[in-house]
Amino acid sequence: MTQKHKDADIKTRMSDEELLKLESKYCSWGDTVHYVEHPNIFERCKGSCLYDRDGVEFLDLQMWYSAGNFGYNNERINNVLKKQIDRLPQLACQYLHEEKIRLAAKLAQRVETTFEEKGRIHFNVGGSQAVEDSLKLVRKHTGRSLMFAFMGGYHGRTLGASAITSSFRYREHYGHFGERANFIPFPYCFRCFYGKKRDTCNMYCLKQFEKLFETEYYGVVDRKTNVCEFAAFYVEAVQGTGGYQVAPREYLSGLKKILDKYNVLMVDDEIQMGFFRTGKFLSIEHFDVTPDIIVFGKALTNGMNPIAGIWAKEMLISPKVFGPGSTHSTFSSNPQGTAMGLEVMKIIEESDFATEVPRKGKYFVSRLKALQKKYPQIGDVDGLGLALRMEMCEKDGYTPNKKLTDAIEEIGLTGKLTAGGKHRGLVLDVGGYYKNVFTMAPSLYITEKEIDLGVDLFEEALKLALKRS
Ligand SMILES: Cc1ncc(COP(=O)(O)O)c(C=O)c1O
Repeated sequence: MTQKHKDADIKTRMSDEELLKLESKYCSWGDTVHYVEHPNIFERCKGSCLYDRDGVEFLDLQMWYSAGNFGYNNERINNVLKKQIDRLPQLACQYLHEEKIRLAAKLAQRVETTFEEKGRIHFNVGGSQAVEDSLKLVRKHTGRSLMFAFMGGYHGRTLGASAITSSFRYREHYGHFGERANFIPFPYCFRCFYGKKRDTCNMYCLKQFEKLFETEYYGVVDRKTNVCEFAAFYVEAVQGTGGYQVAPREYLSGLKKILDKYNVLMVDDEIQMGFFRTGKFLSIEHFDVTPDIIVFGKALTNGMNPIAGIWAKEMLISPKVFGPGSTHSTFSSNPQGTAMGLEVMKIIEESDFATEVPRKGKYFVSRLKALQKKYPQIGDVDGLGLALRMEMCEKDGYTPNKKLTDAIEEIGLTGKLTAGGKHRGLVLDVGGYYKNVFTMAPSLYITEKEIDLGVDLFEEALKLALKRS
């Protein structure tokens, strides 16, 4: 760029106000940008931080809903992308390239080592598309199209993924969903669907699910033939959008036993919790269960040039049963994404996230629990690895307080907090059934100092929000 052009570019740089005016006229508001009243415009990112156009630093404790596990602007991954751009930036997905094959092999070998189960990988672009592919696989194998899924579960917003996502709001205006899943209560023990207490419930919720198979008149199974009307159960071992709640250890293995009895497949959605978010490569590794299909996405490319995909047991996906053309997308295994995915897998192999993530998570939770002692409005604090939840409530520590949650989120996004000695912002994400849960997914490289800063910023925002209410 010549100096003349540079000067012209600076002169034509638009203010935030001008950009927002354009945005309000030309951008669809159908996405989630306008969940907040004053959307931010960011310009740079590095490590755990985003920077706005005035250079204000925002500590990000949600890292693109866990797509940016390995830190923003990761130099190692960037360099791989740069090299790939210089050599083979594009290639139609009907042809092969080395990175695709090696990435598929690394993923399948990792799953095989963990679960002693052979399988194959099929790539697609986004998480929802990979979920759609898994639905096709399930339908092809079983010849059935009805699914079980969890209340509070989230599997994406394409039509097929919306049908197995619990929130009615996402389906409400889009007609009839004939294949809407049968939603089963997730073991969300802080707010048990059945009003039970974890230490005395004896897995009541699991027994209620099993009861559905007792007689054909509960509408699930033909007791004479043992054929179940449902083909698969879609699970998130740790619910993402649903509020980062962790299923009790014994729940999922119990569930799998019931499903196996009736030939119902288990599809494990790891799109948000995979790639060491919880301290293991896949969150389901905490639960002594081997799923039949695994869906992954987000952090595979550290959120860049997205690639998602599925792993499935050989019997479900072998070329004999899922032959050429069974599913396809123009960008599904593009060379830039697969090159970065391969680098992410190498980073994982060379790092000790299995030790580091639980250690950092434990420290983070201990700091949040200390805060909880000071503020009764923090009703629940929990976490698995660096998937952390903090539930905001009324003073009784239980009644969900969405207003307080929203106020804290908005205060964080103003970039006017002062903890740490300068103006800063705090990026938080809100989830949960009552939209009162901070679902925290910091970079896996977050330092103790950044965790301390995050807790201080949060406390400052909480105090301001409490003053307002
Ligand atoms: C568990 C889970 N499944 C599926 C999806 C959908 O993925 P995508 O937004 O890439 O379509 C998400 C996205 O947040 C998710 O968290």
